[in-house]
Amino acid sequence: MTHVLVTGAAGGIGGAIAEAFAAQGALLTLADRQPAALERTAARLGRRAAVRTADLALPDSPAAVVEAAWSGHGPVDILVNAAGLYPSLDMADVDAASWDRLFAINLRAPVLTTATFARLAMKEGRPGSVVNISSGAAQRSRPGGGPYASSKAALEMATRAAALELGAHHIRVNAVSPGFVPVASDCNPVSARYAKAIGTNPLGRSGTPEDIARAVTWLAGPDASWITGEVLRVDGGSSTGALHLPRIWQLDDAPDPAAALEGHTR
Ligand SMILES: NC(=O)c1ccc[n+]([C@@H]2O[C@H](COP(=O)([O-])OP(=O)(O)OC[C@H]3O[C@@H](n4cnc5c(N)ncnc54)[C@H](O)[C@@H]3O)[C@@H](O)[C@H]2O)c1
Repeated sequence: MTHVLVTGAAGGIGGAIAEAFAAQGALLTLADRQPAALERTAARLGRRAAVRTADLALPDSPAAVVEAAWSGHGPVDILVNAAGLYPSLDMADVDAASWDRLFAINLRAPVLTTATFARLAMKEGRPGSVVNISSGAAQRSRPGGGPYASSKAALEMATRAAALELGAHHIRVNAVSPGFVPVASDCNPVSARYAKAIGTNPLGRSGTPEDIARAVTWLAGPDASWITGEVLRVDGGSSTGALHLPRIWQLDDAPDPAAALEGHTR
Protein backbone atom coordinates (compact mmCIF):
# COMPACT_ATOMS: atom_id res chain seq x y z
CA MET A 1 0.00 0.00 0.00
CA THR A 2 1.34 3.44 -0.93
CA HIS A 3 2.23 5.48 2.15
CA VAL A 4 1.78 9.24 1.67
CA LEU A 5 2.94 11.94 4.10
CA VAL A 6 1.12 15.26 3.67
CA THR A 7 2.17 18.38 5.59
CA GLY A 8 -0.34 21.17 6.05
CA ALA A 9 -3.03 18.49 5.99
CA ALA A 10 -5.29 20.49 8.33
CA GLY A 11 -5.56 23.17 5.67
CA GLY A 12 -7.70 23.62 2.59
CA ILE A 13 -5.32 22.39 -0.08
CA GLY A 14 -3.42 19.89 2.11
CA GLY A 15 -6.71 18.40 3.32
CA ALA A 16 -7.97 17.94 -0.24
CA ILE A 17 -4.67 16.30 -1.20
CA ALA A 18 -5.01 13.86 1.71
CA GLU A 19 -8.57 13.05 0.63
CA ALA A 20 -7.52 12.47 -2.97
CA PHE A 21 -4.79 10.01 -1.98
CA ALA A 22 -7.14 8.29 0.48
CA ALA A 23 -9.65 7.82 -2.35
CA GLN A 24 -6.89 5.97 -4.23
CA GLY A 25 -6.47 3.61 -1.27
CA ALA A 26 -3.27 5.13 0.13
CA LEU A 27 -2.11 4.92 3.75
CA LEU A 28 -1.85 8.50 5.06
CA THR A 29 0.30 10.27 7.61
CA LEU A 30 -0.93 13.81 8.16
CA ALA A 31 1.14 16.59 9.72
CA ASP A 32 0.17 20.09 10.77
CA ARG A 33 0.44 22.33 13.79
CA GLN A 34 -3.36 22.53 14.30
CA PRO A 35 -4.38 19.32 16.13
CA ALA A 36 -8.16 19.79 16.06
CA ALA A 37 -8.29 20.62 12.37
CA LEU A 38 -5.89 17.77 11.66
CA GLU A 39 -8.24 15.34 13.40
CA ARG A 40 -11.13 16.71 11.30
CA THR A 41 -9.18 16.00 8.11
CA ALA A 42 -8.36 12.49 9.34
CA ALA A 43 -12.04 11.84 10.15
CA ARG A 44 -13.06 12.92 6.62
CA LEU A 45 -10.77 10.38 4.97
CA GLY A 46 -12.93 7.39 5.76
CA ARG A 47 -9.83 5.30 6.42
CA ARG A 48 -7.19 5.15 9.11
CA ALA A 49 -4.67 7.95 9.03
CA ALA A 50 -1.84 8.72 11.41
CA VAL A 51 -1.70 12.31 12.63
CA ARG A 52 1.41 14.20 13.75
CA THR A 53 0.99 17.60 15.38
CA ALA A 54 4.15 19.59 14.77
CA ASP A 55 5.36 23.13 14.26
CA LEU A 56 7.36 22.59 11.09
CA ALA A 57 9.01 25.99 11.45
CA LEU A 58 11.14 24.59 14.30
CA PRO A 59 14.56 23.44 13.07
CA ASP A 60 14.33 19.77 14.06
CA SER A 61 10.63 19.29 13.46
CA PRO A 62 10.57 18.48 9.71
CA ALA A 63 13.08 15.64 10.08
CA ALA A 64 11.29 14.33 13.16
CA VAL A 65 7.94 14.22 11.33
CA VAL A 66 9.37 12.21 8.42
CA GLU A 67 11.24 9.85 10.74
CA ALA A 68 8.13 9.29 12.89
CA ALA A 69 5.99 8.61 9.81
CA TRP A 70 8.61 6.17 8.48
CA SER A 71 9.13 4.24 11.70
CA GLY A 72 5.48 4.38 12.75
CA HIS A 73 3.77 3.22 9.56
CA GLY A 74 6.49 1.93 7.29
CA PRO A 75 8.47 3.54 4.47
CA VAL A 76 7.02 6.70 2.97
CA ASP A 77 6.53 6.52 -0.81
CA ILE A 78 5.21 10.03 -1.47
CA LEU A 79 5.89 13.26 0.41
CA VAL A 80 3.68 16.30 -0.21
CA ASN A 81 4.79 19.60 1.33
CA ALA A 82 1.64 21.72 1.54
CA ALA A 83 2.13 23.55 4.87
CA GLY A 84 2.64 27.23 4.23
CA LEU A 85 1.84 30.79 5.19
CA TYR A 86 0.99 33.71 2.91
CA PRO A 87 0.96 36.79 5.13
CA SER A 88 0.59 40.33 3.84
CA LEU A 89 3.98 41.88 4.56
CA ASP A 90 5.41 44.82 2.66
CA MET A 91 9.08 44.70 1.76
CA ALA A 92 9.58 47.96 3.67
CA ASP A 93 8.14 46.35 6.82
CA VAL A 94 10.26 43.20 6.81
CA ASP A 95 12.39 42.48 9.85
CA ALA A 96 14.64 39.53 10.55
CA ALA A 97 12.12 37.66 12.69
CA SER A 98 9.20 37.89 10.22
CA TRP A 99 11.40 36.95 7.25
CA ASP A 100 13.01 34.01 9.08
CA ARG A 101 9.68 32.67 10.33
CA LEU A 102 8.17 32.77 6.84
CA PHE A 103 11.17 31.13 5.22
CA ALA A 104 11.33 28.53 7.99
CA ILE A 105 7.88 27.23 7.12
CA ASN A 106 7.69 27.93 3.37
CA LEU A 107 11.24 26.97 2.38
CA ARG A 108 13.33 25.36 5.12
CA ALA A 109 10.63 22.91 6.23
CA PRO A 110 9.99 21.38 2.77
CA VAL A 111 13.73 21.30 2.09
CA LEU A 112 14.37 19.46 5.38
CA THR A 113 11.49 16.99 4.98
CA THR A 114 12.76 16.24 1.48
CA ALA A 115 16.33 15.74 2.74
CA THR A 116 15.22 13.31 5.46
CA PHE A 117 12.87 11.50 3.09
CA ALA A 118 15.67 11.18 0.52
CA ARG A 119 18.21 9.87 3.06
CA LEU A 120 15.81 7.22 4.36
CA ALA A 121 14.74 6.18 0.85
CA MET A 122 18.36 5.98 -0.39
CA LYS A 123 19.38 3.94 2.66
CA GLU A 124 16.72 1.36 1.86
CA GLY A 125 17.15 1.62 -1.93
CA ARG A 126 13.54 2.71 -2.38
CA PRO A 127 12.16 5.01 -5.07
CA GLY A 128 10.21 8.05 -3.97
CA SER A 129 8.24 11.06 -5.10
CA VAL A 130 8.04 14.55 -3.61
CA VAL A 131 5.56 17.28 -4.55
CA ASN A 132 6.04 20.76 -3.15
CA ILE A 133 3.16 23.23 -3.21
CA SER A 134 4.50 26.44 -4.69
CA SER A 135 2.43 29.44 -5.87
CA GLY A 136 1.94 31.64 -8.89
CA ALA A 137 3.53 34.28 -6.67
CA ALA A 138 6.89 32.61 -7.35
CA GLN A 139 6.76 34.22 -10.79
CA ARG A 140 4.78 37.36 -10.07
CA SER A 141 4.68 39.28 -6.79
CA ARG A 142 1.93 41.62 -5.64
CA PRO A 143 1.76 44.43 -3.06
CA GLY A 144 2.41 42.91 0.36
CA GLY A 145 3.39 39.59 -1.21
CA GLY A 146 7.12 40.08 -1.68
CA PRO A 147 8.42 37.87 1.16
CA TYR A 148 5.94 35.12 0.27
CA ALA A 149 6.81 35.35 -3.44
CA SER A 150 10.52 35.16 -2.57
CA SER A 151 10.01 32.05 -0.43
CA LYS A 152 8.09 30.26 -3.18
CA ALA A 153 10.58 31.27 -5.88
CA ALA A 154 13.33 29.75 -3.73
CA LEU A 155 11.18 26.64 -3.19
CA GLU A 156 10.92 26.16 -6.95
CA MET A 157 14.71 26.32 -7.30
CA ALA A 158 15.12 23.91 -4.37
CA THR A 159 12.68 21.59 -6.17
CA ARG A 160 14.80 21.60 -9.33
CA ALA A 161 18.06 21.24 -7.39
CA ALA A 162 16.76 18.25 -5.44
CA ALA A 163 15.39 16.70 -8.63
CA LEU A 164 18.80 17.05 -10.27
CA GLU A 165 20.62 15.27 -7.47
CA LEU A 166 18.04 12.67 -6.49
CA GLY A 167 17.02 11.43 -9.94
CA ALA A 168 19.84 8.86 -9.93
CA HIS A 169 18.24 7.39 -6.80
CA HIS A 170 14.82 7.15 -8.48
CA ILE A 171 13.45 9.94 -6.34
CA ARG A 172 11.41 12.48 -8.29
CA VAL A 173 10.88 16.00 -6.97
CA ASN A 174 8.26 18.27 -8.54
CA ALA A 175 6.06 21.20 -7.61
CA VAL A 176 2.48 22.21 -8.22
CA SER A 177 1.91 25.95 -8.49
CA PRO A 178 -1.69 26.83 -7.68
CA GLY A 179 -3.44 29.98 -8.73
CA PHE A 180 -5.76 31.60 -6.20
CA VAL A 181 -7.95 29.02 -4.43
CA PRO A 182 -10.41 30.18 -1.74
CA VAL A 183 -9.92 28.05 1.39
CA ALA A 184 -11.38 30.11 4.28
CA SER A 185 -8.28 29.61 6.40
CA ASP A 186 -7.81 31.08 9.89
CA CYS A 187 -4.03 31.28 9.59
CA ASN A 188 -4.06 32.59 6.02
CA PRO A 189 -6.87 35.18 5.93
CA VAL A 190 -7.67 36.81 2.57
CA SER A 191 -9.89 39.87 2.19
CA ALA A 192 -12.96 39.70 -0.05
CA ARG A 193 -11.53 42.59 -2.06
CA TYR A 194 -8.30 40.72 -2.73
CA ALA A 195 -10.13 37.50 -3.57
CA LYS A 196 -12.28 39.34 -6.13
CA ALA A 197 -9.31 41.09 -7.69
CA ILE A 198 -7.16 37.98 -8.01
CA GLY A 199 -9.94 35.53 -8.84
CA THR A 200 -10.18 36.38 -12.56
CA ASN A 201 -8.71 33.85 -14.97
CA PRO A 202 -9.20 32.74 -18.60
CA LEU A 203 -11.18 29.63 -17.64
CA GLY A 204 -13.69 31.83 -15.87
CA ARG A 205 -14.23 29.94 -12.65
CA SER A 206 -12.68 29.89 -9.24
CA GLY A 207 -10.13 27.17 -8.47
CA THR A 208 -10.87 24.56 -5.81
CA PRO A 209 -8.60 22.58 -3.49
CA GLU A 210 -9.71 19.48 -5.43
CA ASP A 211 -8.33 20.99 -8.67
CA ILE A 212 -4.94 21.17 -6.97
CA ALA A 213 -5.24 17.74 -5.34
CA ARG A 214 -5.92 16.00 -8.67
CA ALA A 215 -2.76 17.52 -10.15
CA VAL A 216 -0.73 16.47 -7.11
CA THR A 217 -1.86 12.84 -7.17
CA TRP A 218 -1.11 12.64 -10.89
CA LEU A 219 2.31 14.28 -10.62
CA ALA A 220 3.26 12.14 -7.61
CA GLY A 221 2.10 8.90 -9.20
CA PRO A 222 3.27 6.40 -11.84
CA ASP A 223 1.68 8.19 -14.82
CA ALA A 224 4.24 10.98 -14.30
CA SER A 225 7.19 8.61 -13.83
CA TRP A 226 9.45 10.45 -16.34
CA ILE A 227 8.77 13.90 -14.94
CA THR A 228 11.06 15.47 -12.38
CA GLY A 229 12.12 19.02 -11.57
CA GLU A 230 8.88 20.31 -13.08
CA VAL A 231 6.60 23.05 -11.80
CA LEU A 232 3.03 22.37 -12.91
CA ARG A 233 0.83 25.45 -12.93
CA VAL A 234 -2.76 24.73 -11.93
CA ASP A 235 -4.37 28.13 -12.10
CA GLY A 236 -7.14 28.33 -14.69
CA GLY A 237 -4.61 30.06 -16.93
CA SER A 238 -4.19 33.05 -14.64
CA SER A 239 -0.40 33.04 -15.14
CA THR A 240 -0.70 33.26 -18.91
CA GLY A 241 -0.85 37.05 -18.90
CA ALA A 242 -2.69 40.17 -17.83
CA LEU A 243 -6.30 39.34 -18.69
CA HIS A 244 -7.62 42.56 -17.18
CA LEU A 245 -5.71 44.86 -19.54
CA PRO A 246 -7.48 46.57 -22.46
CA ARG A 247 -6.56 45.66 -26.03
CA ILE A 248 -3.73 47.77 -27.41
CA TRP A 249 -5.97 49.31 -30.08
CA GLN A 250 -9.04 49.67 -27.86
CA LEU A 251 -10.60 53.14 -27.98
CA ASP A 252 -10.59 55.13 -24.75
CA ASP A 253 -14.42 55.15 -24.54
CA ALA A 254 -14.81 51.39 -25.19
CA PRO A 255 -16.24 49.26 -22.33
CA ASP A 256 -13.74 48.24 -19.66
CA PRO A 257 -12.80 44.56 -20.30
CA ALA A 258 -12.65 43.97 -16.55
CA ALA A 259 -16.33 44.97 -16.34
CA ALA A 260 -17.17 42.45 -19.09
CA LEU A 261 -15.67 39.74 -16.88
CA GLU A 262 -17.99 40.54 -13.97
CA GLY A 263 -20.08 37.49 -13.17
CA HIS A 264 -17.83 35.38 -15.39
CA THR A 265 -15.24 34.64 -12.70
CA ARG A 266 -17.20 32.58 -10.19
N1 LIG B 1 -5.06 28.99 -1.39
C1 LIG B 1 -4.36 29.58 -2.36
O1 LIG B 1 -4.86 30.46 -3.09
C2 LIG B 1 -2.94 29.18 -2.62
C3 LIG B 1 -2.36 29.59 -3.84
C4 LIG B 1 -1.05 29.23 -4.10
C5 LIG B 1 -0.35 28.47 -3.18
N2 LIG B 1 -0.92 28.09 -2.01
C6 LIG B 1 -0.14 27.27 -1.09
O2 LIG B 1 -0.88 26.12 -0.75
C7 LIG B 1 -0.46 25.64 0.52
C8 LIG B 1 -1.69 25.39 1.38
O3 LIG B 1 -2.34 26.62 1.63
P1 LIG B 1 -3.91 26.76 1.84
O4 LIG B 1 -4.38 27.80 0.90
O5 LIG B 1 -4.55 25.41 1.83
O6 LIG B 1 -3.94 27.42 3.28
P2 LIG B 1 -4.39 26.84 4.69
O7 LIG B 1 -4.13 27.91 5.67
O8 LIG B 1 -5.76 26.28 4.60
O9 LIG B 1 -3.37 25.64 4.92
C9 LIG B 1 -2.05 25.85 5.35
C10 LIG B 1 -1.75 24.83 6.43
O10 LIG B 1 -0.36 24.96 6.79
C11 LIG B 1 -0.30 24.78 8.18
N3 LIG B 1 0.89 25.40 8.76
C12 LIG B 1 1.23 26.72 8.70
N4 LIG B 1 2.34 26.92 9.42
C13 LIG B 1 2.71 25.71 9.93
C14 LIG B 1 3.78 25.28 10.76
N5 LIG B 1 4.68 26.14 11.25
N6 LIG B 1 3.86 23.96 11.08
C15 LIG B 1 2.94 23.08 10.60
N7 LIG B 1 1.91 23.44 9.82
C16 LIG B 1 1.80 24.74 9.49
C17 LIG B 1 -1.54 25.47 8.74
O11 LIG B 1 -1.85 25.05 10.04
C18 LIG B 1 -2.59 25.11 7.70
O12 LIG B 1 -3.31 23.95 8.07
C19 LIG B 1 0.50 26.69 1.08
O13 LIG B 1 1.83 26.27 0.87
C20 LIG B 1 0.21 27.91 0.24
O14 LIG B 1 1.31 28.77 0.14
C21 LIG B 1 -2.21 28.44 -1.71
